[in-house]
Amino acid sequence: MKFFIDSADIDEIRELADSGLVDGVTTNPSLVAKSGRAFKDVIAEICSTVEGPVSAEVTALEADAMVEEGRALAEIANNVAVKVPLTWDGLKACRTLSQGGTMVNVTLCFSANQALLAAKAGATFISPFIGRLDDIGEDGMELIRDIRVIYDNYDALGTEILAASIRSDDHVRRSAMAGADVATVPPKVLRNLANHALTDKGLDAFLADWAKTGQSIL
Ligand code: E4P
Repeated sequence: MKFFIDSADIDEIRELADSGLVDGVTTNPSLVAKSGRAFKDVIAEICSTVEGPVSAEVTALEADAMVEEGRALAEIANNVAVKVPLTWDGLKACRTLSQGGTMVNVTLCFSANQALLAAKAGATFISPFIGRLDDIGEDGMELIRDIRVIYDNYDALGTEILAASIRSDDHVRRSAMAGADVATVPPKVLRNLANHALTDKGLDAFLADWAKTGQSIL
């Protein structure tokens, strides 16, 4: 499974990318607003920090305008994935951009049929929003499972499932079990994946016993 960082905070991204465990980054207009920085500058900086795809979202609503914005974003760096919303216009823009060789992430996906259309439109990634479905009392993970089944039924659909709106460790575990290709994870959640109380306890005990031997490895 690939891990993307869901953030526009360059310091956080840089720190996590140093681990070698990060395969890409997703941003959205809310995350860019939170960074307080100029959109294109942030995307350029992230693209030079991370080799993998960096999602940058258009804000136009009409297909031609989305394509124009998408092309401008794609010019920032080779690893930009243009993010378009899952609307009819977004699907049209996805088709045009992907046919032109641009990576496209179709975002705000809340149904399996939407995901099917995005794949037909040539999306590189489909972003089902797990957390936001859970927020309204639905089961976000069921959507991931449904999309996996549908995409696996048709070899021609090469779109990767990018589990988005992830809020917890359990969302990551269940997305991996459901066969999502990618999870985009907030920095805090990603760091937490490495933690376990028994790891800390076990390490303390090992080091205490090691100190008693009086030895050193180097
Ligand atoms: C990623 O591409 C999405 O924009 C993001 O995961 C949304 O997460 P949220 O629902 O927690 O805002």
